[in-house]
Amino acid sequence: MKFDAPATTNPIDQLKLVGKPLNRIDGPFKTTGTAPYAYEHHELPDTAYGVVVGAGIAKGRIASMDTRAASAAPGVLAVVTARNAGKLGKGKMNTAKLLGGPQVDHYHQAVALVVAQTFEQARAAAELVQVRYEATRGTYDLSLAKDGAKPPEPNENTGPVETRVGDFDGAYAAAPVQLDVTYTTPDQSHAMMEPHATLAVWNDDGALTVWTANQMIDWGASDLARTLGLPKDKVRLISTFVGGGFGGKLFVRADAVLAALGARAAKRPVKVALQRPLIANNTTHRPATIQRIRLGAGKDGKLTAVAHESWSGDLPGGSPETAVNQTRLLYAGAHRMTAMKLAVLDLPEGNAMRAPGEAPGMMALEVAMDEMAERLGLDPVAFRILNDTQVDPEKPERPFTQRQLTRCLQLGAERFGWAARQSRPGQQREGRWRIGLGVAAAFRNNLLQTSAARVRLDTKGMLTVDTDMTDIGTGSYTIIAQTAAETLGLPLERVTVRLGDSLLPVSCGSGGQWGAANSTAGVYAACMALRQQVAERLGLDPAQAQFENGQVRVGERSVPLAQASADRELVAEDKIEYPKEFSEKAQQSTFGAHFVEVGVDVASCEIRVRRMLAVCAAGRILNPKTARSQVIGAMTMGVGAALMEDLAVDTRRGFFVHHDLAGYEVPVHADIPHQEVVFLDEVDPMSTPLKAKGVGELGICGVGAAVANAIYNATGVRVRDYPVTLDKLL
Ligand code: MOS
Repeated sequence: MKFDAPATTNPIDQLKLVGKPLNRIDGPFKTTGTAPYAYEHHELPDTAYGVVVGAGIAKGRIASMDTRAASAAPGVLAVVTARNAGKLGKGKMNTAKLLGGPQVDHYHQAVALVVAQTFEQARAAAELVQVRYEATRGTYDLSLAKDGAKPPEPNENTGPVETRVGDFDGAYAAAPVQLDVTYTTPDQSHAMMEPHATLAVWNDDGALTVWTANQMIDWGASDLARTLGLPKDKVRLISTFVGGGFGGKLFVRADAVLAALGARAAKRPVKVALQRPLIANNTTHRPATIQRIRLGAGKDGKLTAVAHESWSGDLPGGSPETAVNQTRLLYAGAHRMTAMKLAVLDLPEGNAMRAPGEAPGMMALEVAMDEMAERLGLDPVAFRILNDTQVDPEKPERPFTQRQLTRCLQLGAERFGWAARQSRPGQQREGRWRIGLGVAAAFRNNLLQTSAARVRLDTKGMLTVDTDMTDIGTGSYTIIAQTAAETLGLPLERVTVRLGDSLLPVSCGSGGQWGAANSTAGVYAACMALRQQVAERLGLDPAQAQFENGQVRVGERSVPLAQASADRELVAEDKIEYPKEFSEKAQQSTFGAHFVEVGVDVASCEIRVRRMLAVCAAGRILNPKTARSQVIGAMTMGVGAALMEDLAVDTRRGFFVHHDLAGYEVPVHADIPHQEVVFLDEVDPMSTPLKAKGVGELGICGVGAAVANAIYNATGVRVRDYPVTLDKLL
């Protein structure tokens, strides 16, 4: 189905199930431990266990490796290294090789897998692998590498690396009110609960099956095939339940490649869960940024000059953190420039983490907006509203398909009691706490992706939906069931959803907050194709047929849907595709506003978040319960980014010092107060047939700045270096 928004009159507008806060259909499986995660598949006999050995240097080569003691240890079945693994290719999505040697590209790059009959035997034997390294000097400090940073190669993810409109320098120099500030955000780890884990088994015909934890089935199967030098149809990748991803499982990682190699060497199924201490340095992370923002405004508070430059680092061949993206779109201003620069760093591979680009970009831009509002003597809510735009500020001929930023800010200010905020910092106190309120806009782009699905109506009138979409804890199973049931007029109980298997039609997968809107659009397309078949089978006019309450009706005539497939099941497959002009003609984004109240201890400077509110405008909300869970999770992650999360770099040896959930701090329940989420009652007719957009990443964008702004309001101390820890306030 080619989605042709303006002409669509679609039946989804009288809704019974879509848009309702239904419980997750996978909830009971998860709460009863009957939703198997990759490592929990126990059904294959003789499964062996692999333990990964990570490189002990950041850069250099392996001079020698002695695996004799490990191989001779009790229970050991195989030791896989680059020497005996055969020729390996590189996946499209990986910057560094997933099995290193003799060259070492980054610390904890996998250099061996020890496979044994039990996990304990494998772990003990892995300690016996002797590696002698020849280290070479690397570059690990972004602040030192910044001056040598270059404009990165543009690719489909980065977009343009530099944009210029009008005459920024002239307009900035002439602006009566100016701001020139630099912010830093640290490297961050996804820190998902479920580590990267895989169970791999080879069939007799040389085909590989992996049960793994992955957000993107088709990318994963393709890259695993590329890495192992197999035709893609020889790789089956299954990921039916995922214990958190946040971008860290967008790609095949070492666990999958090494489980496959281990299983080949040991001639049995092999399971590998990346050991928690390896995750920070072996997998990907959100790269640190240095961001300089310059704003120029007239005395009337209108921005005339907007500049945002960002520096980040990655391994050779890597990509920048696209932290300037939102600044191209969020506020008006005739003269503007944005630029990204990329330094080569020999740290582990940087890549997407929840709302890559916007999440750290908003942590800078939205504090700068707070600083500028203060300089102008304006309320920060009013200042943002004053500089709203309904068109792409870089290309004014492109309108936004929907943009209710102003409404989000206004409604949020009312609901949060913003009027009570003291505009001068450090004025409000309750006992030992200084109290502050902060606000930030939320912004995240809405991405359109092709997504396919197949639906089958069986002879009993039960419907099965097949698509390789994943549910990474987000609620995909539920919203897909809602969509299919709605479109075919069936009760939810008659719909079964099967996800996360590369044998199923290729979906958009879970990433970039595009999963919900696009996967349901694909399911809608398949269901519309099935409606056609059903109507034809029943001898009804497909254009007239109404699908409701298990019946298909034309005028007075009503026939049970199940009658259409009583003799022979019906199968339909289709995908949603968006014409290219869609994104050229108009800009699709999601908007919101975050409000935060903090308390800062007068003596210790301990920071507590006391209240949080997010108002989101993200098209039709397919299921307010699962969407709310996404947003409160994202708000929680935003608090982590503001106050805690920091992969500290050892700049002499080139690794992230933090390597477990004890050292890498993330918020716990006691850190998070009451959170409120409001969704504007919005539809975006240009987004998908269901008029929905993404929301899962919108929830994190801006939170960190709202927290930092609240801290400033409480204390009068402006910290521009995240995380804002209490020592920086003393
Ligand atoms: Mo998201 S960082 O694209 O999973």
